[in-house]
Amino acid sequence: MNDKSFKPIILFALMEILVTGGAGYIGSALVKSLIEKKHNVGVIDNLSKGKKEYLHPKAKFYRTDLVDKKELAGNFKNSKFDAVIHLAAYKSVEESMKNPEKYKDNVVAANNLLELIEKHAIKKLIFSSTAAVYGTPQYSPLDENHSTKPINVYGQGKLEVEKNIMKVCEKNSVDYIILRYFNVAGDAGLNYIDPAPENVFPKLMDVVFGKRREFTIFGNDYKTRDGTCIRDYIDINDIVKAHILSLDVNSNNIMNIGTSNGISVLELVKSAEKVIEKKIPFKFGPRRAGDCPELVASNQLAKRIMKWKPEKSIDSMILSTYNAYKNRYNPRP
Ligand SMILES: NC(=O)c1ccc[n+]([C@@H]2O[C@H](COP(=O)([O-])OP(=O)(O)OC[C@H]3O[C@@H](n4cnc5c(N)ncnc54)[C@H](O)[C@@H]3O)[C@@H](O)[C@H]2O)c1
Repeated sequence: MNDKSFKPIILFALMEILVTGGAGYIGSALVKSLIEKKHNVGVIDNLSKGKKEYLHPKAKFYRTDLVDKKELAGNFKNSKFDAVIHLAAYKSVEESMKNPEKYKDNVVAANNLLELIEKHAIKKLIFSSTAAVYGTPQYSPLDENHSTKPINVYGQGKLEVEKNIMKVCEKNSVDYIILRYFNVAGDAGLNYIDPAPENVFPKLMDVVFGKRREFTIFGNDYKTRDGTCIRDYIDINDIVKAHILSLDVNSNNIMNIGTSNGISVLELVKSAEKVIEKKIPFKFGPRRAGDCPELVASNQLAKRIMKWKPEKSIDSMILSTYNAYKNRYNPRP
């Protein structure tokens, strides 16, 4: 072989990354993107909500409940993870108020993971937190310095995990990034269908595709422009991008991930009708325990630290979700 014909093929994986919750909505999209970037990915999921069909074939899968300390420890024995991205959690605000016991598992799971991060000297942790840690906004948009007084059990658990992460990671010099997502929506090319809809977009799609009769808007007497709750919907592709960028951030940070654009639930229904060109039957129901009138992010910190910016509009989130459901329910021949 002469020198000119020698072209080294570099086929190394950049990092060994563990993604918990990698069979779920955000996790499966993130795993796909990490594998496309040539990382080696391990996934831990108990499949309580996630589905095998959304697991990436190139990811090494461990079906484990993070609450099971012994089994979890076993998953770390033959792997040397460089980073852990912890998404696995139960995520329904409504359910957390009705069944708070179940939501203690989110904290136990994170504590078990933190013990192993410490034991195996893992260098980096990225954690999926939520806007629900803030509680009722004292001003809007919410920046990361806003007080944290969650008004639901789900948010209280996430805040407890944030505090435990800071304590353990600072003690052990583990870099950590806490991403407080606002309301995640859209599809990342997996045609993801929520198996047990708790969020607004999948519930809307259930109505559009005839799986439920009408959409319920919980509360129309909030002090907002049309009486319904205002939320900040952020596209799943923008969320995935924030994680990829977080891998390269060397300082410890807590960052909001949202668009900074608030839209009311009623406005969302009207936008969906316009984009999908179909009437969506809806009714107003009573307020739900644990819901804030308004949650809108200031995203200045993520923009400054990671050079991240949201790119997708609300109409594009509606369209990609609609197409995902359409592709699953009416696949083309
Ligand atoms: N979707 C959103 O709008 C949103 C907003 C803010 C924060 N988050 C957070 O982002 C993360 C991912 O959310 P998602 O929308 O992909 O939810 P999801 O329910 O689709 O995915 C969560 C995954 O975690 C798994 N899981 C749950 N508990 C587990 C346990 N004890 N052990 C192992 N696996 C477990 C589930 O089977 C599921 O596959 C969650 O932590 C959620 O709280 C989501």
